[in-house]
Amino acid sequence: MSEPSTNPKEKKREKAAPLLGCYDDLDGSCAHAWALLARGVKDRRSPFHTPGLATVSPQGLPEIRTVVLRGCDPQTRDLRFHTDTRSGKIADMQKQPQAALHFYDPSAKIQLRVRARLKLLTGEAYATAWDNTRPMSRECYQVTQAPGSPLPTPADVVFDAAATNDGADHFAPVVANVQQIEWLYLAARGHRRALFDFTGSNSQHSWLVP
Ligand SMILES: Cc1cc2nc3c(=O)[nH]c(=O)nc-3n(C[C@H](O)[C@H](O)[C@H](O)COP(=O)(O)O)c2cc1C
Repeated sequence: MSEPSTNPKEKKREKAAPLLGCYDDLDGSCAHAWALLARGVKDRRSPFHTPGLATVSPQGLPEIRTVVLRGCDPQTRDLRFHTDTRSGKIADMQKQPQAALHFYDPSAKIQLRVRARLKLLTGEAYATAWDNTRPMSRECYQVTQAPGSPLPTPADVVFDAAATNDGADHFAPVVANVQQIEWLYLAARGHRRALFDFTGSNSQHSWLVP
């Protein structure tokens, strides 16, 4: 870690947002990134709770939308979100499973750009995810028309628990297996940017020009 600054202006800024202990520590920055992701699952107020998920449409066009981060396992490097089987992002991932997730915490001044491979959860993992959903969340999946389909008026939308098996018929838990995380930490002392690559048998971490 760097020595504290002697520049008064910089010192003032660092007092407002103390420098991270992992400022010059590559492995520590990677661990911090995973800790922020794990917190994003549990803390609804964390900006990491609602990342942007980018996919590529079957027509080859970029698509991006907000999702709620529902799971994070640093051991398997899996993130999880939930969606509707009929949604655009499912059609996207079926043709192109490569996706990106974007996270930014303005108070921590940390941006993560995550490259991941998407996969639908099935079997026991699907059942566990469904069992843990709340009644309010289940309602979203009880809509009988496919999300994004045109409606004559908003009142024409139909929710039917019986016809949708309580919503389970349309529930799609998706795992994003993380391949790379690009870390960007904005600090008054000098920004820090790094790439954490998990694609090989051993993780490779390297600093990048910010
Ligand atoms: C704060 C917030 C959280 C959202 N969370 C989810 C989510 O977890 N899953 C989901 O499918 N859509 C979620 N949405 C809606 C998506 O952003 C998007 O509008 C919808 O899923 C349709 O996207 P698609 O047609 O690209 O699949 C959320 C939107 C907002 C604003």
